[in-house]
Amino acid sequence: MNAIAPDELVIEPLAGPLLGTTSVPGDKSISHRSVLFSAMAEGTSQVSGVLDSGDVRSSIAAVQQLGAQVALEKQVDGSLAGGITGWGSAGPTQPTRALDCGNSGTTARLLMGVLAPWDIAVTLDGDDSLRRRPMRRIYAPLMKMGVTFTPAGSEGLPVTEKGSRHLKALSYDSPMASAQLKTALLLAGLGAEGETRVCEPAASRNHTELMLPQFGVQTTAGERTASVIGPCQLTASEVHVPGDPSSAAFIVCAAVLARDSAVQIEGVSLNPARIGFTRTLERMGADVSITRTGMSGKEPYGIIEARWTEDLRGCEIPADKIASLVDEIPVLALVAAHAHGITVFRQVSELKVKESNRLAAVIEGLGRLGVDAWNEGDDLYIEGQPSLQYPCDLVFDSHHDHRLAMTWALVGLTGPNPVTVTGFDSVKISYPGFLASMEGLVR
Ligand code: S3P
Repeated sequence: MNAIAPDELVIEPLAGPLLGTTSVPGDKSISHRSVLFSAMAEGTSQVSGVLDSGDVRSSIAAVQQLGAQVALEKQVDGSLAGGITGWGSAGPTQPTRALDCGNSGTTARLLMGVLAPWDIAVTLDGDDSLRRRPMRRIYAPLMKMGVTFTPAGSEGLPVTEKGSRHLKALSYDSPMASAQLKTALLLAGLGAEGETRVCEPAASRNHTELMLPQFGVQTTAGERTASVIGPCQLTASEVHVPGDPSSAAFIVCAAVLARDSAVQIEGVSLNPARIGFTRTLERMGADVSITRTGMSGKEPYGIIEARWTEDLRGCEIPADKIASLVDEIPVLALVAAHAHGITVFRQVSELKVKESNRLAAVIEGLGRLGVDAWNEGDDLYIEGQPSLQYPCDLVFDSHHDHRLAMTWALVGLTGPNPVTVTGFDSVKISYPGFLASMEGLVR
C-alpha cells in the first residue's frame, strides 16, 4: 500500500486469493449498547470484545463526561475489555462542555434517549457529516414524552437537550424502520411511568431488546414492535460482544469476487436482523453459508463461509428486508455490478442520510467502473456485467464515509489494477484493521 497524500491511499491488488480462517472486530451496534447500558446501570459491568474504533470511542468519551467510570483496556486481539461503573439511580452528572459525538449517529441518537429522564441540559454535537444528519425523527417523539430541545425547531446538531423526571410514556407508530429511533424511545421509556411501545413499518435490528434483559429490564418484542415498562433501573451486567457482520461483509464480498478465494470468518454475530446480506448473496448465486456455533447472551454467533463465485445473477431486495442489510448496500452494489441482469434495492431513500449520501455515491462510483446504476423513486437499480473489466487509474471519493472507503478499496484489492481512495482514513470509524485483515488472508 502506497500513501500519496494524508487523505488518500493507493490500494494495490492482493497478491493472491483470500484463503483461510479469520475473525473480525466486535460488532459496532452491540459495542455502543454495551457501553451506554453499562453507563446507565447501577454497579460495575464487565464488557469484553468491545470494538475499538472511532465511533465507539465517541460513546465512551460521552459517558465519561456524564460521570461513568470507564476502565477498559486494549486486549491482544485489539478489542477493549474491562469494567464500566455506571451512574445508576444517581443519574448522569451535568457535563461542563458539549458532548462530541464525532461521526457517530448511533452515539448521538441513543444518547438522546439515555438523557431524556434526567433534568440536566446537555449539548450534543458532532462532525460535519453528523451535523448534516436528520435528528427531527428523534426530537419529535421525545418532545411528546416531555423532553425539550433548543433551539426549538432544530433539525440537526448541535442541539441542547433538557430531559424531565416526569416523562410521559409513549405508544409510537414509527414512520421508518430505525433501530436508533426505536432504541432512543425505549431508553427514554425507562424513565416514564407505564408502557412505552414502538411499532415499525419493518423490523430493524433488535440488539437493544435482546441486551436490556441482561441489565435486568424486561422488554417485550414482536416482529415489528418493542416495548418496555417504566420506571425501571438497569443493574450491572456482563456483555461479550461478538464479531461485526457489517465488517465481515467486506471480507465475504471480496472472497466472492476474488478468483479461487475461500474464507471462513469465525465468531461473527449471526443475528438475523443483521445478516440480510448473506441471504442476498445466496440469492445472487454466491457460495456463502452460515453455521451457528454459540450464543453471547441472547445474540447468536457463528461462522460465515464464502467462496469465489463465477456466475452471479441479479436479484430484487424487497423494502421489508432493507433494514437487515442497510449498511451493506454499497458493497452488495459492487457485487451486483458483476452479476448477470439487474439488481434492485427497494425503498432505500435512507441511504441519502447515512454518513454520506450513499445512494448518490454508489451510483457515481459504479459509473466510474462503466456500470449503469440509477435510482427511480426510492429504488436503486444496478445493471450488472458478468465479464466486467475494471478501467485503469481509478480514483474514488469515499466522502469520508467508512463503508464507501472499504467498498471502493475492494475494487483495488480484488481487481487487476491499483485504485486510489480519498478519505480512506475513515475506515477507523468501524474497522481500523480492515487492510491488515485482508492482507492476512492472502496465501
Ligand atoms: C444502527 C442502526 C442503523 C445502522 C447504523 C447502526 C444501530 O441505523 O445503519 O449503522 O446501532 O442502531 P438506523 O437505525 O438509523 O437505521
